[in-house]
Amino acid sequence: MNIISIADLKRHELESIIFNTKEIKEKPLRYRNSLDGRILIMLFEKPSLRTRISLESAMLQLGGNSIYIDRRDTHLGRGETIEDTARILSRYGDCIALRVNEHETILEFSENSRVPVINALSSMEHPCQIISDLFTIYEIEGKFKGINLAYIGDGNNVCNSLLLGCAILGVNIRVASPPGYEPDKEIIVRAIKFSRENNSLVEILENPREAVKGANFIYTDVWVSMGDEDEEKERLEAFKEYQINRELLKNADSDCKIMHCLPAHRGLEITDDVIDSENSIVWEQAENKLHAHKAILLKLLNERTMHS
Ligand code: CP
Ligand code: NVA
Repeated sequence: MNIISIADLKRHELESIIFNTKEIKEKPLRYRNSLDGRILIMLFEKPSLRTRISLESAMLQLGGNSIYIDRRDTHLGRGETIEDTARILSRYGDCIALRVNEHETILEFSENSRVPVINALSSMEHPCQIISDLFTIYEIEGKFKGINLAYIGDGNNVCNSLLLGCAILGVNIRVASPPGYEPDKEIIVRAIKFSRENNSLVEILENPREAVKGANFIYTDVWVSMGDEDEEKERLEAFKEYQINRELLKNADSDCKIMHCLPAHRGLEITDDVIDSENSIVWEQAENKLHAHKAILLKLLNERTMHS
């Protein structure tokens, strides 16, 4: 099994990863030899602090090992295909995590891999981030049904996975983005389909003040994602009314929690006083990537043991 989209997981599988994350976080020592001798290979085309280091730490704490390669250290830039690279790497490692510019790359890679493939961020999705964030929500609320989440800003990879993940688990989600920066259309259609099965809501709006009303969680991400740097000027102009600041939060409940996958661009999508406030749970989100990655690795690698 691969996790390329968060929707590769059925509702019960996503719930089970989240429940296992809780157990692993509470009793880490119980799992310290679970992946003895197993290897995770990470092939990244873009920078990473949290995802890379939490995956590496997760493997080490589970008794396994990891090998990191930057795309520039491979032959991909000099003619070796992604298909051949997948055929080779999947003979060396037990699982491969990729961070790629184009979503198509991870699809091509997975079609030629003998071992499970994890999307550690692509242009379309950031599934492991959202699995971990849904765990953070569960840790606070103890449930998903009836929870309202508002995502304010760019309809990007993080937003796409959040839409799908919330809809799969029955969390009500509202997205407010400026025109032209809405989430992917096909993802919206899929999210609406999942939400109907769960009697939950998916709403795509333009007005951030309307979106934050009644939200238990307000989530934002950068306005200029990795790879969008050429559009920086237009983007900063388009998103200026979408900042999470005290003024916007006057429209929200006083106890709503603030989420950000990080890295944050303080003073752009979020102000210092909001990200550093008592309502902010961004550091918990970052920590939980370690615990959730363990649950994800255990699922993919144990499943592989059972079937090999
Ligand atoms: N949130 C996240 O994926 O951060 P990194 O880019 O540092 O991995
Ligand atoms: N949307 C951001 C997320 C970074 C973790 C990006 O793709 O750069």
